[in-house]
Amino acid sequence: MNGDDPLEVLRGRRSRPALAAPAPGPAELHDLLVAACAVPDHGRLRPFRFVVIDDAGLGALGDAFAAAHAERSPDASPADLARTRRKPLRAPMIVAVVCAPVEHPKVPVWEQRAAAVCAAHALTIAAHVRGFGAMWRTGWYGDAPKVRAHLDLLDTEDVTGWIYLGTPAGPVPAPRPDAEPAVTWLR
Ligand SMILES: Cc1cc2nc3c(=O)[nH]c(=O)nc-3n(C[C@H](O)[C@H](O)[C@H](O)COP(=O)(O)O)c2cc1C
Repeated sequence: MNGDDPLEVLRGRRSRPALAAPAPGPAELHDLLVAACAVPDHGRLRPFRFVVIDDAGLGALGDAFAAAHAERSPDASPADLARTRRKPLRAPMIVAVVCAPVEHPKVPVWEQRAAAVCAAHALTIAAHVRGFGAMWRTGWYGDAPKVRAHLDLLDTEDVTGWIYLGTPAGPVPAPRPDAEPAVTWLR
């Protein structure tokens, strides 16, 4: 392993489930989001946007998660709902990457979703480069009407990923176990 190899940025990125304060500050976050926008984007439609959640917003998002859970599972126990309510508190900041596709004669919605996925991953890499930790989470919450309303999503929009951001805490993850790519050459 060559520590000076820029590819080490990609090889060395690991998801960090344990994240503590501080989160990126406003200027740092801006840099990360600008980097996240530098992704392949057919037609330059920029079919994604970011919703940044921190401070009291994390608790409010937890309330929306819990309300969605109660609506989906009326029999959920108070303990289950409390666990759901705490989910956004696992990091000091969450960036919801929202796919915002438009009708386009040449660029189908799946390609626009692909661009949003690239942006979400680019954000995790940018965070890693700047010494922050990130973890991409999803789950059904982003599809729940109560959560969608909380985020003020348009009918055409949906959550590509919840990128949890902060300062890495907890044990450093072991090296990637399955680094060997599956490759077929056609010559
Ligand atoms: C679209 C997508 C959704 C994911 N959702 C979750 C999730 O909800 N919860 C979770 O623990 N990991 C989720 N993951 C996996 C983690 O982000 C992470 O990739 C995985 O733990 C492996 O760690 P690594 O990135 O260090 O290889 C998701 C990954 C992707 C690409």
